[in-house]
Amino acid sequence: MLNTLEELKLRATEELEAITDLKELEAWRLRYLGRKGSLTRILRGLGLLPLEERRVVGAQANKIKELLERSLVERERLLKEAELARHVEVAGIDVTLPGRPFPQGGLHPTTQMVREICHIFETMGFQVVEGTDVEWDYYNFEALNIPKDHPARDMWATLWIDYRTESGEMPMLLRTHTSPMQIRIMERMRPPLRVVVPGRVYRYEATDATHESIFYQIEGLAVDETITLADLKGTLFEFSRRLFGRERQVRFRCDYFPFVEPGVEVAIDCFVCGGKGCRLCNETGWIEIMGAGMVHPDVLKRVGYDPEIYTGFAFGLGVERIVMLRHGIEDIRLFYANDLRFLRQF
Ligand code: DAH
Repeated sequence: MLNTLEELKLRATEELEAITDLKELEAWRLRYLGRKGSLTRILRGLGLLPLEERRVVGAQANKIKELLERSLVERERLLKEAELARHVEVAGIDVTLPGRPFPQGGLHPTTQMVREICHIFETMGFQVVEGTDVEWDYYNFEALNIPKDHPARDMWATLWIDYRTESGEMPMLLRTHTSPMQIRIMERMRPPLRVVVPGRVYRYEATDATHESIFYQIEGLAVDETITLADLKGTLFEFSRRLFGRERQVRFRCDYFPFVEPGVEVAIDCFVCGGKGCRLCNETGWIEIMGAGMVHPDVLKRVGYDPEIYTGFAFGLGVERIVMLRHGIEDIRLFYANDLRFLRQF
């Protein structure tokens, strides 16, 4: 019996060594260790042997069973490893394939431009201040010399907010420009002051390629004892050189805004045609970039500044428009359409 066991062990081990796939391995397991396997049969038949022999054979059979079970596990591990290696070889892992893309956000082109412009003014000693989008009629209009029923109100199509107080006399709106911050800043601070205010503004208007109902402006304000139009010019010339390049020409022409006197329209010479006239500059050779002027004495008085002592300049520009000029973007509606194909370019 012991010989039979020894033979079985040798045969099983030899066969196991020759096995090359998992299916054969399973067949081998059934053959020796399965319910009807040869080793199982021997173990079951132990009861028929005389006591003395049963002990010896039983011990030996159990030892062999353990050995075979251990070898089975080991063999299975090796076969699985080999199978994986084969799969890699056949199916192939292309190590030159790009990794899984890791989505990365970026700053909106408007945000980038807001930061760039504010940075230029910061280096000239301006402080960056922000205001709120919801504003009182007083700051957006009244305090800026635009009383009720003044025709200049038509310059800003307004989105009103339905808000009633007891007296009903404080109409609320979405600011149509960043200029109301001029008043809020002057109410809070004493000259000398130099600030820029970036922010979103709202217009009740149909949109087209050059008009949006929401866009960004940057307001500038400087007030001190000896500020003149020459300071405004110097500041904006330098700004233009920094943003658009040294070679740009800057033009000041009279314009009207109720809260400045004189008011000016600031333009740069067209960088596409160099001033000869083209589609971008509407054949004029010039591109308007902002409105500006000397703060109106009545505005100064309203915030308690003595216009005999203090003078100031103010300016306001549309941010998207500048981004459009820089990148040759022809439709302002692209800025808030949230089309990633557009946004990813910046
Ligand atoms: N707030 C004006 C607008 O939205 C732009 C502007 C013009 C701002 C002249 C100014 C200024 O500060 O002095 O149309």
